[in-house]
Amino acid sequence: MKTFTAYNGIPIPTFIYGTAWKKDLTGELVQLAISSGFRAIDTANQLIHYNEALVGEALLALAQQGTQRTSLFLQTKFTPVSGQDHRTPYDPIAPIETQVKQSFESSLQHLHTDYLDSYVLHGPYSRHGLGKEDWEVWRTFEELYQSGKTKMIGISNVTAGQLRLLCEQATVKPMVVQNRCYAALGWDLEVRELCQSHDIIYQGFSLLTANRDVLRNPATHSIAKRLGVGPAQVIFRFAQQIGMIPLTGTTKEQHMKEDLQIEGIELTNEEILHIEKIEL
Ligand SMILES: NC(=O)c1ccc[n+]([C@@H]2O[C@H](COP(=O)([O-])OP(=O)(O)OC[C@H]3O[C@@H](n4cnc5c(N)ncnc54)[C@H](OP(=O)(O)O)[C@@H]3O)[C@@H](O)[C@H]2O)c1
Repeated sequence: MKTFTAYNGIPIPTFIYGTAWKKDLTGELVQLAISSGFRAIDTANQLIHYNEALVGEALLALAQQGTQRTSLFLQTKFTPVSGQDHRTPYDPIAPIETQVKQSFESSLQHLHTDYLDSYVLHGPYSRHGLGKEDWEVWRTFEELYQSGKTKMIGISNVTAGQLRLLCEQATVKPMVVQNRCYAALGWDLEVRELCQSHDIIYQGFSLLTANRDVLRNPATHSIAKRLGVGPAQVIFRFAQQIGMIPLTGTTKEQHMKEDLQIEGIELTNEEILHIEKIEL
């Protein structure tokens, strides 16, 4: 699989398999995704939406079948207390630095690994700007990065204003941003432009579910027809061609295969410009 390279020289596969909402099927779907050709897995240490331990069981089984850890890109998240239920994977009343370190160690245990490829803050504590807690988390992330325990650090569900602040004031800028991507916001244009100017890798989720009108749009269908693919593939390939790494969380082997085939298709510049502005 092709890769994009973050500003610190670390490559990331250009398509990520996401494991949210898979519940008991998490392990089997991770195995299916890897055997179908995915090399990057996204999860979170947050039992409300993910099951990181089942991702780890799948990785263990794959390792026993010969899959090397170094051939995989593993990304997980630190989820603040407000995004957890009673199964918080760290002491919820400990200082934030301790919460992050406990969550990180528990992720390593769940995933049966001694390093992560990417560690992401699931979302800032503050709605606007960055507060004390955000900086406490980020300083701990910087420490984890500098210790070599994670090859990249990143942030999710971030606004352009928050990302700008982080880039201006952090010792280590994020290498990765992961956001929900709406066509109606120019596919998160403001955040993407900021990422581009700082050489940060932008990962987009909900590309299909947040953009159902684009999936139905006749222009998408006519591009799909020209390329001999479905409308979902058009959106994913569009995302890659504008420099974004798409996430998919499909539960179907057929969709996994179709999604991975998109690197063989190419939208024209005109088609890209059209889809970029399709809902503006
Ligand atoms: N950071 C965050 O806060 C956050 C939030 C949400 C998601 N995420 C990450 O992003 C991942 C993906 O989530 P998502 O919201 O983008 O989407 P998703 O959960 O994968 O939803 C995609 C939907 O589109 C359908 N679909 C139809 N055709 C498809 C095709 N060709 N390929 C793929 N899907 C197709 C899938 O159905 P089938 O199963 O039938 O294919 C599924 O119902 C998550 O698993 C998670 O890792 C992160």
